[in-house]
Amino acid sequence: MRSLPATSPVSGNIIVPGDKSISHRAIMLGAIAEGITSVRGFLDGEDCLMTLRAFQAMGVHIDGPTSQCVVIHGVGKYGLQKPQQIIDCGNSGTTMRLLAGILVGQAFDSQLTGDESLCTRPMERISQPLMQMGAEISTTNGCAPLSIYGGKTLHGIRYTMPIASAQVKSCLLLAGLYAHGETCIIESKPTRDHTERMMSTLSYPIHQAENMSMITSGNGVGTEIIVPGDISAAAFFIVAATIIPGSVLQIKQVGLNNTRIGIIKILQQMGADITIIKTEMYGEELVGDLIVKYAPIRGIVIPEALVPLAIDEFPIIFIAAACAEGQTVLRGARELRHKESDRILAMVQGLQTLGIDAEDLDDGVLIRGGSLHGGTVDSYMDHRIAMSFVIAGAAASTPVTILNTESIKTSFPNFVQLANTVNLNIMPF
Ligand code: S3P
Repeated sequence: MRSLPATSPVSGNIIVPGDKSISHRAIMLGAIAEGITSVRGFLDGEDCLMTLRAFQAMGVHIDGPTSQCVVIHGVGKYGLQKPQQIIDCGNSGTTMRLLAGILVGQAFDSQLTGDESLCTRPMERISQPLMQMGAEISTTNGCAPLSIYGGKTLHGIRYTMPIASAQVKSCLLLAGLYAHGETCIIESKPTRDHTERMMSTLSYPIHQAENMSMITSGNGVGTEIIVPGDISAAAFFIVAATIIPGSVLQIKQVGLNNTRIGIIKILQQMGADITIIKTEMYGEELVGDLIVKYAPIRGIVIPEALVPLAIDEFPIIFIAAACAEGQTVLRGARELRHKESDRILAMVQGLQTLGIDAEDLDDGVLIRGGSLHGGTVDSYMDHRIAMSFVIAGAAASTPVTILNTESIKTSFPNFVQLANTVNLNIMPF
């Protein structure tokens, strides 16, 4: 894919696709609820389709997606059937880690696998606490493929999270639905709480207090869900409008859950001009319209408390840092090495190729703002790395070519089309 330098400001009024985390959870929690759950604004990217297909393979009738709508005919938490084959989670860590929490509670055995990237990502972070709950699950050298042995009696645990991970927390909360007693998850660094909010929307027995989420064995009831726009998708456009002079962009119906707005806080600290207007609730999720205007930005030391709240946005935040005056420092973000790629390595390498002074700090990066020039960068098959360098191309002096961009379809199938409507110049090849 090639991204050409912007010849005019980023402008327009856009809606980004539905939130990926919420779309996964709608399928999962709808499938094991009693009755029908209808979902609007579902993200029909490859990752969420992996979740959808996994539940279809376990006998759940799901209509759609048609125009971002799906209807899930819930089978209740014991209504899933043994899948005929190994469940393929593709590139999706959320599918694998959350699904494992449901599968340990089933009467049948199951196996989970994924693509090359997913099969190198750490899975002991879920298998160990699940085994503490009485589950039987084996990994392949700590990674997928996973084998899960059903028919075990689970009991609730009190678990203090050793790392900040919403996937691990959600996996354990889902397993807690099948356990005797209470499952209590304590977080020192809060992570996204979409599982808790959606559990509450579907009447599952969840309780949330500060830094603690607690679930007991129980059932959910189907309902109607509207998925907010994905702030992680909006992030590429927020940064594009911030760094291209003269830009004014409106992004409508973006999810603004408090545990996801680290990107807005970080960019505002850098001097970005982002205004939130017209907020409303979609179920338990806050949604609002954003107006982003071009503004000169400066480097900052990113507060560590914001790391889990912007965990997926660092690749595009690094592009903003490359365009800022002065240096930006990120620490306490080693988790970035365990995403769809090693995002510290991939970003430092790509930024250096484009003429930016970027340093790998092991648990973060140091970026000295400068002038981006063109070049060829590898996205390492990571959707967020690919889209970040597409935006870099708009701010560069000559075209940027990005390799291995097929991964964009995992989270943002209409990215190129939407970007070209707001005056970016992207050639898919
Ligand atoms: C997600 C949690 C985060 C995030 C991922 C989606 C989720 O992963 O990076 O893209 O939907 O729960 P971790 O739990 O590994 O931090």
